Amino acid sequence: MAIISSNSDKKGSQSSKIKPRIVDRQLIPGEAPSSKEDGLRPQHLNDYIGQSGLKEVLGIAVKAAIGRGEALDHILLYGPPGLGKTTMAMVLAKELGVSCRVTSAPALERPRDIVGLLVNLRPKEILFIDEIHRLTRIAEELLYPAMEDLRLDITVGKGSTARSRALPLQPFTLIGATTRAGSLSSPLRDRFGLIHRLDFYSQADLTEIIERSATLLKLPLTSNACMEIARRCRGTPRIANRLLRRVRDVATVRNELQTINSKLVNDALSLHKVDSRGLDAIDRRLLEMIIKNHQGGPVGLETLAASLGEDASTLESVIEPFLLQLGFLQRTPRGRIVSKEGKHHIETSKTL
Ligand code: ADE
Repeated sequence: MAIISSNSDKKGSQSSKIKPRIVDRQLIPGEAPSSKEDGLRPQHLNDYIGQSGLKEVLGIAVKAAIGRGEALDHILLYGPPGLGKTTMAMVLAKELGVSCRVTSAPALERPRDIVGLLVNLRPKEILFIDEIHRLTRIAEELLYPAMEDLRLDITVGKGSTARSRALPLQPFTLIGATTRAGSLSSPLRDRFGLIHRLDFYSQADLTEIIERSATLLKLPLTSNACMEIARRCRGTPRIANRLLRRVRDVATVRNELQTINSKLVNDALSLHKVDSRGLDAIDRRLLEMIIKNHQGGPVGLETLAASLGEDASTLESVIEPFLLQLGFLQRTPRGRIVSKEGKHHIETSKTL
């Protein structure tokens, strides 16, 4: 399976002017989300741990598509970052025996970017578009007939000589990924045959993922050490694998690569300011801000975002979901509230 990334480094295009945004919380600044993950990604549905409902639905869809000799239907995957949306797209490509072309909406700013990708797709290939809620209207409108009728409506020529032409496309599968399903326009959402949410992973699934990654990285972690990382990775495999690498760093420097126990894990995660429940400095700042400056809430999202110097949509789609899942934060019609449990955690856990 070839993974062909589109070129997002377009000199002179608008993308260079777009304000950088946190789309994923990175433990170590500068560590790109996907660069180091590739070796640990599962290749087949059977190796993909967790998300059992999603795997069952997609397993059937894949078998049916292969059985009919057709392209897989278009799929929209949504949910917090790091839960395996890109990984799932690559797994599906592998299962189908096709390539997966990976790009993201901000890289498809000019109509020619998306036209170039679509016309070059081979039969039944997968086109994966991350952050699909950020597509421009023009890009979305090019996608509608492409997804529905395998046709690209383009305009050739300029002014009075401009003419519209319909280019036929090969059957393909669009897999869109987003952390903000609500921001997708309904015409675009309606064109996906399968729409599925990815949930945070259970402790048991995370422990299994960490054990698998530790084996691939040849790291002798005790089962308590794996469980400790599982407790502190915010329910997110990407963070689990990243924490595992930081644990490896400490083990390497201390020359303790023979056995990696939970004490070493604790030392490494404390060094990186990940607390006992996996909260990092931004999470704690958010909870502390509501407790100290707003008497525990309620406080509006925009006010909170301004106080934290964060973008409101990042707060809502990247930072809040895990705090809500833990029950430390509650959303009410009047704003955000820190729960009794959240307050207790901030008061009793070690300050970072
Ligand atoms: N690595 C990252 N996510 C994974 C998953 N869901 N299953 C197995 N390995 C993974």
